[in-house]
Amino acid sequence: MSEKFIRVIRADEIAPGGMKAVELDGNEIVICNSSKKYYAIQRRCGHMNAPLEMGTLDGIYLTCPMHCAQFDIINGEALSGPIPSDIGHEILPPFLGEYLHNIEMLMKHVRTESIRTYETKLDDGWVQIRL
Ligand code: FES
Repeated sequence: MSEKFIRVIRADEIAPGGMKAVELDGNEIVICNSSKKYYAIQRRCGHMNAPLEMGTLDGIYLTCPMHCAQFDIINGEALSGPIPSDIGHEILPPFLGEYLHNIEMLMKHVRTESIRTYETKLDDGWVQIRL
């Protein structure tokens, strides 16, 4: 880990409850504003790489936009895995039903990893990150 904090964005660029994706030295990072506290996490979901800034942030809990795995943005811990899709009871064409069934079976074998977090600090209105 670097000793140096790097200025990334102005704090007022992210509304409370909002997120913004940035790239820093080749690292894809999402900065989260949770009640005016700023957290930085890896951008890609620990399940299947969805961009997490497109998810939802509720306090310190971030929900992935793709399959709804949840993460704690303070320590990056994966709190829950993906939610199985519900194809309901609609009658589907056989090929589509079989395809969705196979996807469902594969999804059970894809592990959700915790995500990386980065140390942040606020300085003179700037969010800074230590890589
Ligand atoms: S990609 Fe995030 S839960 Fe599947």
